[in-house]
This record gives sequence, C-alpha cells and structure tokens, in this order.
Amino acid sequence: MSNHSTGAEAPKREQWSGRLGFILATAGSAVGLGNIMKFPYMTGMNGGAAFLIVYIIVMLVVGVGMLICDFLIGRHGKANAVASYRKLLGKNSFSWMGYLGIFSAMLALSYYAVFGGWMLYYIINSFGTLANIAPDAVGGFFGDFTSSVAGPLVGTLIFLLMTMVIVMGGIKKGIERASKIMMPALLIILVVLIFRAVTLPGAAEGIQFYLQPDFSQINFGVFAAAVGQVFFSLNVGTTGMVNYGSYLSDKENVPKSTAWIVLTDFAVAFFSGLIVIPSAFAFGIEPGSGPSLLFITMPSLFSQLPAGGFFCLLFFLLLLFASLTSSVSILEIFVPYVTESFPKRFNRKKASVLGTVICMILAVPVSFSFGIWGDVRIFGMDIFSLYDNFICIIAYPLIALCTAVIVGWLWGKKNAMNAITNNGAIESRFCSIWYFLVKWVCPLLLLLVLLTGFGIIS
Ligand code: ALA
Repeated sequence: MSNHSTGAEAPKREQWSGRLGFILATAGSAVGLGNIMKFPYMTGMNGGAAFLIVYIIVMLVVGVGMLICDFLIGRHGKANAVASYRKLLGKNSFSWMGYLGIFSAMLALSYYAVFGGWMLYYIINSFGTLANIAPDAVGGFFGDFTSSVAGPLVGTLIFLLMTMVIVMGGIKKGIERASKIMMPALLIILVVLIFRAVTLPGAAEGIQFYLQPDFSQINFGVFAAAVGQVFFSLNVGTTGMVNYGSYLSDKENVPKSTAWIVLTDFAVAFFSGLIVIPSAFAFGIEPGSGPSLLFITMPSLFSQLPAGGFFCLLFFLLLLFASLTSSVSILEIFVPYVTESFPKRFNRKKASVLGTVICMILAVPVSFSFGIWGDVRIFGMDIFSLYDNFICIIAYPLIALCTAVIVGWLWGKKNAMNAITNNGAIESRFCSIWYFLVKWVCPLLLLLVLLTGFGIIS
C-alpha cells in the first residue's frame, strides 16, 4: 500500500503579503528566458510580425483564460498541484496532470540551468574579453564555450545551486523582495537598450521584419508555436501557476492581477524583440538562430556602446536575476509535491536537493547537445529541441486542454463563476466572457495545437 497522501495533511500554506507582492513575484516567475531569449528567436523563426500578431491573439484568448484557471485551481486546492487537481473534483482521475507538469518542469529547469550557466560565463567575462570584442568575434567566443564539456556543466551546476538555496530558504520573503527590486530595474534597462538597438545602422530592416506582418506566413505551425511560447512564458500548463495560486488569499481579485501579470510579461517579450531583432539584422545574424541569438547579438550590440562592458554586465546580471525568479518557481513546482506527499521522508531542504540532482542529470545531455552531441538527433531533433518541443508543443497544451475541460465542463459553471468572482464580490462582464472562452474556445484551439504537435495537421 502506498504510504503517501496528498492534500489532506498539507501544512497550512503561506500567503502572499498582498497584491503587489503577488503580482511582482508571479510576473518574476513569468518573465525570464522565455521573454528575453526565446521570444525574439521564436519570432525570427516564425515569420517576424506574423508571429507577433498570432502571439498577441493567443495570449489574450488562451493565455489569460488558462492562467486564471490555474490560479483558481491552486487557490481552491491550497496545496501542491497534484493535490489541487485531485481536490477540485474530489477524485484521482486528473492527478496525472500534476505529475506530467512536474516532469515537464524538471525538463524545463534542466535546460534553463544550462542557459543560466552561459549567463554566468558572460557575466564573468563582461569586463574582460567581452568589453572590447569585435562583433564578428562574438560567435566564436560563444561557440568555443558552449561546445566545451566541463565549463558549461560547472556553470549549470552553479545556477542550479543558486536556485536550490533560494528554494530551500522558502520563497515568500526571498522572491517577493527580490522581485520588487529586479522587475522595475529590468524594465528600465530594457528601455535604455531599445533606444540603442533601433538606432543602429542597418536596424531598419529588422524593425520592418518585426513590425510589418506578412500574413502569408501564418499557418497552424506558427499558431502551435505561439501557444507553446505563451504557455512557457506565462507558466501555464506547467502547474507552476497552480502552485503560486495556492498561496493566494480568497479575497484577491484574480482577473485584475492576471491582467497586470500578462501585461508585464508581454511588455518584456515585446521590448526584448525590439532590441534583439533589429540588432541581429544590424550585425547580420540570422534572427531565427535559436538560443545563440541573444548570446551573440547582445555582446555585439554592447561592444558598439560607450561603457559596453558595464552594459554587458548589467544586462546579463539582470537576465540572471530574471531567470532565477523563474527557475525558483519551476523548482518550487517539485518541492511542495515531495514534502506534502512524503512528509516523513522529505523536508523542504531534502526535496530541494533531490530536485536539483534530478535537474542536473537531465541537463547534461542538453549541455552536450550544443557541443559533443551536436549531431545527435532523436525524432529528427537535437536534444534541446526535443525537451523544448515535448514540453511546449505536447505537455503544456495537453495539461491546458484538460484544465479547460475540467473547469469549463466538469467543475460546473456555478463553482467556476463563484471562484472567479470571489462568490459574487467581483462584478464584471469579463468573468462571463472568461467562462465562455474556457468552455468553448480554449478546448477547441488547444485541440488544434495538439493535433499539430502530433503532426496530424500542419
Ligand atoms: N516563464 C518562464 C520564462 O518565460 C519560465 O522564462
């Protein structure tokens, strides 16, 4: 007989200190590599402005609706994701979603940490090699490091240990406090960099590519990519927001807070694109060139600035903090599940160590996929793309589809509407629109995404 249980014995949960703390911590969890690194290259890979438009529509129609669902499920459950799904309908049938979310989170954190390791290397070198590097030498600098064996693994480990230490200490004070400083600082530095990027000689072509849509580029593939990216960015379908929702007060106005979180998340992604894509065009770098885009383009941009080393340090430091507030929330998906399911065997510290060890093991193949295993292909994909596509094109949309079905069809309209309106305390037409979207529109769109992900339609 299994000796574990979820939910019933869960210790009393902490709550966010207030709306600002919740919004900044959750926006901190949402804003990360997904916005600053992935969004620009996904836009580059999927037709520029065409992708941007699809992204905005998907964010408004599916992203907002599903993010609210996650918060409400977590707030209702007041426990880890597996227990919260179980508690919603009072049966086990949907706990697999929690397990899939946890597994996907570990995959995501493993590649997140690899990129975190690269950032650490760039920070160390910002006043050294990178301060005066010629733009055409940055690619070599990047390739030499990322294709080596030991250096990136050491960086990955340090990033994971930093994440682990924060999670071990409990997230409330650490994350909320750090987010209140880092999030405004990140926005300010992004705005400064936009001015430099868009005034670079040769940037106009990039701006046009980013802002002038070519509608012939839109197809199901672009749509599926946008959904995966929206989910990755908002942590929807990862169960991470179910987790963060479990710390919410019953009085919180969920739709209003969600609007701020989504707006912040989109603003950072949009501004990042406005910096990275024109810079890529100015320096002749392919805008769809994957994770390397940021790591090659930004130092090329900084080397053209007075005090470039300082900007380089600042940018990668802020990127590191933005990544850490996200990575902490990803490891935090795993930790409460373990501590609440196996309370006798695991406390927060031991669970954090276990999660870190698992992520480190999963990270090794990802790191090697940029070097010695660069030629390895599984289902036609390199190892990083395999992890990324599995979570963004299959796992997150599958979890979100089931979430939409559960909230829209199984939980019942009365329960769902009571949850979003705080039992009638919030009066807004938006709540009814939300329910309609979750019941009818989201399941249909998510089904299309999954069929695209499985190659059934294209
Ligand atoms: N939501 C986090 C990001 O966008 C994981 O990077």
